[in-house]
Amino acid sequence: MNRPQSKNKAVLFLVATAVVVLALYLVFRFGDQLSDLLGSRMAGLSKPETIIGVLKLALFGTLAYLVVRALNVGIFTLVRLRRGFDAPTLVRNIFSIIAFTALFFVIFTRIFPDVNLGALFTTSAIFGVILGLALQDTLGNFFAGISLQADRPFQVGDVITVGSHQHTGVVEEITWRAVKIRTFQNHVVLISNSTAAKEPIEVGPRENLNARLVFFNTLYTDSPAKTIHVVREAVREADNVSQKITPIVRIRNLADSGVEYEVKYWLDDYAKYNDTDALVRQRIWYAFRRNDLSFAYPTRTLLVERRPRTSGGDAAPIVERLAAVDIFAPLSTEETTMLAQAATSHVFAPGETVIRAGDPGSSMFVVHNGRVAVQLSESGRPRTVATLSEGAFFGEMALFTGEPRTASIVAMEETEVLEIGHQAMKLVFDANPDLVESLSHIITERRQGLAASEDLEGTDMDESAGLLSAIKRFFGLS
Ligand code: CMP
Repeated sequence: MNRPQSKNKAVLFLVATAVVVLALYLVFRFGDQLSDLLGSRMAGLSKPETIIGVLKLALFGTLAYLVVRALNVGIFTLVRLRRGFDAPTLVRNIFSIIAFTALFFVIFTRIFPDVNLGALFTTSAIFGVILGLALQDTLGNFFAGISLQADRPFQVGDVITVGSHQHTGVVEEITWRAVKIRTFQNHVVLISNSTAAKEPIEVGPRENLNARLVFFNTLYTDSPAKTIHVVREAVREADNVSQKITPIVRIRNLADSGVEYEVKYWLDDYAKYNDTDALVRQRIWYAFRRNDLSFAYPTRTLLVERRPRTSGGDAAPIVERLAAVDIFAPLSTEETTMLAQAATSHVFAPGETVIRAGDPGSSMFVVHNGRVAVQLSESGRPRTVATLSEGAFFGEMALFTGEPRTASIVAMEETEVLEIGHQAMKLVFDANPDLVESLSHIITERRQGLAASEDLEGTDMDESAGLLSAIKRFFGLS
């Protein structure tokens, strides 16, 4: 309490005491006259002695209150001067309550000797119940407060964090009702003693060397030994970081984005841990800058897997499949293997279109697993002209001539096809130019077969020759 405030209180105390003493003097001095006056004015209503008795009780009670206050201040100021510390508020309150109650009893029995105050309290069950219920919380807080004082888990000036609401602040006062803490946002939070007795409380005692943890991270390329040294030296210099214990810097995780560290340091004044945490982070930043260390951003290292060209991962079944295709029959094993390596596998769901009539196309396909339908459009509706199963091929016309797709190919069941591109075929033709002729013959023969099955005119040798030169032109072969 500051000086002007205590001076005002002293003046108020003296004035109040003077008024009460004067009032008591008047009551005693003119008691008889007052009694007569009341007797004549309030005839029959109440005894004048009782009214004067109540008046005396009120005045003596007020005087007793003032005396107790004065005693309280006197005794505890003496304790402070002798022992060097302030007595807890709760102790002072308990002293006041007991002293006042005792004085009140004495005054009451002197003024009303005929009334047995003890019996009044002890015999009235209803009064007891009402009082008990009304004081339930108050008494709970009161006794919890006493246990807090006896146990002394924390004291004024300690930093505490209370319970599930995580109220953190410096303890300012422990009264008979509540623990008062001042948060770091300068708010006052009152936690009732009974709550404080029930909830878990984290205490950072004022006299204790309390520690804090601050986290940071670095790139994987930064040396841990260097990082630990640099950060430890930077942090130990910061204000409010205790010189008694050297800060500890250690790796806490090898994370996705970088190496995660924690700094454990001890504080001289724990109540300032927010500022000190911030200062420690700042020092780390500057230390990083000076020493060429880097904080890690959230990063991902993508390792691109070169997947095998087929879903199976083994090229042998592909080579086997291609070797069994009649148009590739003239190829050597090396050429077929080369084709297999260049082939890409695709899986289609039943009903999915593999190629669409009229689209441009520069690759052909071999049915590896499953079945496809060759469909032509008739009056806007698809008509299946052939079905092709494992080992059959399609798309060769566009590949070898550069013309648009002549039909649509639709998967009839789950189907895996092997796609062979223009480039792969060109490599095969470059290595073995004679193949063009045999391939064109096979295609012509197949076309003739297809034409016959569709009752169309057969393909003659001229067309085969035309196809041969078209393929050569398309692949840039002489
Ligand atoms: P392409 O024209 O590139 O694309 C559609 C493919 O369907 C075609 O090559 C042939 O491979 C195939 N095709 C077209 N008509 C028939 C048919 N009547 N029988 C079998 N396959 C065909």
